[in-house]
Order: sequence, then C-alpha cells, then structure tokens
Amino acid sequence: MAEPSLHALACDLLGADPDAPAHRRLTVAEARRLCPRGGVIACRRGDRNLVLAVLADGRTFTAPDRCPHDGRPLSDGYLDGQRLVCSRHGWEFDLATGASPGRPQACIGVREE
Ligand code: FES
Repeated sequence: MAEPSLHALACDLLGADPDAPAHRRLTVAEARRLCPRGGVIACRRGDRNLVLAVLADGRTFTAPDRCPHDGRPLSDGYLDGQRLVCSRHGWEFDLATGASPGRPQACIGVREE
C-alpha cells in the first residue's frame, strides 16, 4: 500500500479531504482562512465541490474540483506560478482564464474570490 502524500495528510488535518462529500468539505470562507499563499485546498460552495487556490500574490481563485481530462480532483494538484497543475497527468490550467495551454477544449470555470 502506498504511503499517503504530505498533501493528503495536511488535507486530512485541515478537514479538506478532496474525496469527502460536499457537505463534509470546508466552505469557501473556511478554506480562504486556512489556505496559505501558494496552496491548494478542497472546499465547497453549497453542494458544489470546488478547489480553492491562493497565488503567491494573494489572489484567490475557485474552480470545479474535477479535472476535465479524467476526473481527478484538482485539489490534489499544486500551483506552478499562476497555473493549477493536476496531480494525475500534469495538465495545467491558467487560473486567470481557466484555459489549459495547448488544449483549447479543456477549460475550467474559474472565479476570483
Ligand atoms: S486527470 Fe487531470 S490531467 Fe489527467
């Protein structure tokens, strides 16, 4: 059995389990308070599972917590500058536009918080 990643352990400690049903996730406001700059965390708005990302400059974005490639929670991913990187196959999404460079069909809906 594989060891859990540090990210997974941190999410468990914060109550930000990306596999948790929406009603057990942090709210967007709770996630904003807990997520450090450069961090990514699972949260919810109503019954919608979201990923919240805080850039190094403090700008904060939310997007659906589902990668358009193969459904992996984007909250398992990480930030590379302004891009959210999916942990499964490495697709990247620009948080200002939702676009995935080189993949015009793979766009996510982003919202600046
Ligand atoms: S599931 Fe996200 S890149 Fe494949």
